[in-house]
Amino acid sequence: MDHAPHLPDPLDGLLGRADELRALRRGLARERLVTLTGTAGIGKTRLALAAAATAAGSPAGGPGARAVRLVDLDGLLDADLLACTLSRALGLPDRPGISELASLGLGLAAGPVLLVLDGCERLAGRGAATVQYLLGACPELNILAVGRRAVGLAHEHEIVLGPLAEGAATALLALRARRQGTPLPLRGSGRSDALPLCHLLDRNPLAIGLAAVQLGELSPRRLMAEIARPSGLLALQGRTAGGEAEPARNRSLRASAEWSHDLCTESEQLLWARLSVVPAGFDRAEAHRTCADELLPGHRLDTAWEGLLDGSVLLADTVGRGRYRLPALLRAYGREQLRRLAAGRHGDGSAESLRSHY
Ligand SMILES: Nc1ncnc2c1ncn2[C@@H]1O[C@H](COP(=O)(O)OP(=O)(O)OP(=O)(O)O)[C@@H](O)[C@H]1O
Ligand SMILES: [Mg+2]
Repeated sequence: MDHAPHLPDPLDGLLGRADELRALRRGLARERLVTLTGTAGIGKTRLALAAAATAAGSPAGGPGARAVRLVDLDGLLDADLLACTLSRALGLPDRPGISELASLGLGLAAGPVLLVLDGCERLAGRGAATVQYLLGACPELNILAVGRRAVGLAHEHEIVLGPLAEGAATALLALRARRQGTPLPLRGSGRSDALPLCHLLDRNPLAIGLAAVQLGELSPRRLMAEIARPSGLLALQGRTAGGEAEPARNRSLRASAEWSHDLCTESEQLLWARLSVVPAGFDRAEAHRTCADELLPGHRLDTAWEGLLDGSVLLADTVGRGRYRLPALLRAYGREQLRRLAAGRHGDGSAESLRSHY
């Protein structure tokens, strides 16, 4: 396997994330399997590409030198086809008489390789056996698994990616607004509105990129008012700077949230919708009090709770141990689902009436 990286080249530089990149590099130097998880659009792929580019840049033959291969699993519909999908994506030859998996193992055992698997949430745990086999069969293989959900192996080293730091968030907003070719309305009061706007967007880089598209038409303050309307956040859409190189879900916040929703069980979807009207900073006991009923009895709620945590829908809140929240984007999506469930029933769709009926 040659050392040519075959990595997509993002248009912008990486903003912020110095600490996270360091943690990722350290993890990759020590562990065979590192997993980068985080919620919708938080910048996992962007960070993984940066880490892979550094690994690919190590001089051939020197310490840390390894071939880097990136495989995008977005199109993988059946986790049982993982070995076959990887062999195709890596251009490995068919080896008649041996299994796909053994053939893949032989292909990856030829030397030091960093294999980046992006989109692991699609595997929902079912790719774990394949990953385990490859790590056993290929002593010089390291895997960086990237996705909203971890692979599901006991020894995986998980790094959870959180929001951008404040400075990086406002810098991204300014950079993307400039890239739109629109005059930057971030002077005077506009500048002081940039940070609250980024907070309203949860300092989520995908949301910031899509909000920047709107700044040609709207001042930051006007945009904040739009975002505060029901479904205003979900309506943010447009082309982000990566254009065609990015997945289609990066063109709208609703599509990005939908991606997680489609991977949830019915109970997870129901719990997600119900939690969307519970003020952030709730714990599991509160979820039981406000969300359990005959449709979602306690034992099912517990399983759904774990599923939402595993899928990066439900996040640990930074204020208070054992407290949780839905990120702004997923909260907005949950409320929309709740309104959909409520359609035709009583209530005016307000948070208050939804809370009292659900
Ligand atoms: N640190 C950063 N600096 C500049 N741009 C960033 C940064 N992080 C993310 N972006 C941009 O934000 C958008 C969303 O990032 P990305 O696609 O990496 O998110 P993700 O977490 O992989 O999303 P998903 O969960 O849908 O896979 C992309 O346009 C990406 O280029
Ligand atoms: Mg991604």
